[in-house]
Amino acid sequence: MSQFPAFINAIVKDLTNRQTLENLEAAIILGSGLSSFAEQIEQPEIIPYAEIPQMPQTSVAGHEGNLIFGTINGQEVIAFSGRFHHYEGFDFEETATPVYLAKALGAQKLIISNAAGAINTSFSVGDLMVIEDVIRGNSLITPTGKKRHRYRHHQWVPEVRDLASQMGITTQQGTYFFAKGPNYETKAEIRAFRRMGGDAVGMSTAPELFEAARLELKTTAISLISNMAAGVTKGKLNHEEVKAAADSRKDDFARLVKALIANF
Ligand code: 6GU
Repeated sequence: MSQFPAFINAIVKDLTNRQTLENLEAAIILGSGLSSFAEQIEQPEIIPYAEIPQMPQTSVAGHEGNLIFGTINGQEVIAFSGRFHHYEGFDFEETATPVYLAKALGAQKLIISNAAGAINTSFSVGDLMVIEDVIRGNSLITPTGKKRHRYRHHQWVPEVRDLASQMGITTQQGTYFFAKGPNYETKAEIRAFRRMGGDAVGMSTAPELFEAARLELKTTAISLISNMAAGVTKGKLNHEEVKAAADSRKDDFARLVKALIANF
């Protein structure tokens, strides 16, 4: 494999035919429940994944598949609304498609988001957790699994937290535990993950982080805690509460991401 898998070149060719980019400031991967961030993008050009040759196609109901070009604070951005999960049958290279495209199109930085379950008992639904490190849970394979490549987590963590705190936005910091799903975990698994050092659990982001690290792309990843993981709280999840908590942080998330684009 050169820097990118072969299918990426075809996608880049198609995108550069459609769009002239002067200086791509940021690429943003929007996690579940966070797709409304796309409304922040000025002069948006929305390209459905279905119209892009060789682009993997999202399959999960409720996950849209759009690539959006536009500007934020006058700076060029590309956003991916709808991502590719390994549990859907995408291989690890396909799951990292937005990362390769960000790098190939010259993005200065990458902002990854996701919805995750809290393992850390001091977290609450609605918390924003800046990812400090990652555990590849039940799948140690990564896109570059054939090569020996030592993962070094991006260091764009304290700056993100400081900026958030200056803006009056409280964040958590912790380790993202990648459990590929598609099922949610058992209580015993969550207890085990906690003892292993996980703070939040989710089914995405790890492959993207590994490839972003390999490509030396300046990256930060933020989890929106959408629910507590199994056994963390007693009783069943109340979906209304979960949705309300997530909705309550959408504005903070949007403000923070816009500030990250403008300030770094
Ligand atoms: Cl509890 N587990 C996993 N694997 N992914 C999640 C989650 C839990 N909550 C949101 N995404």
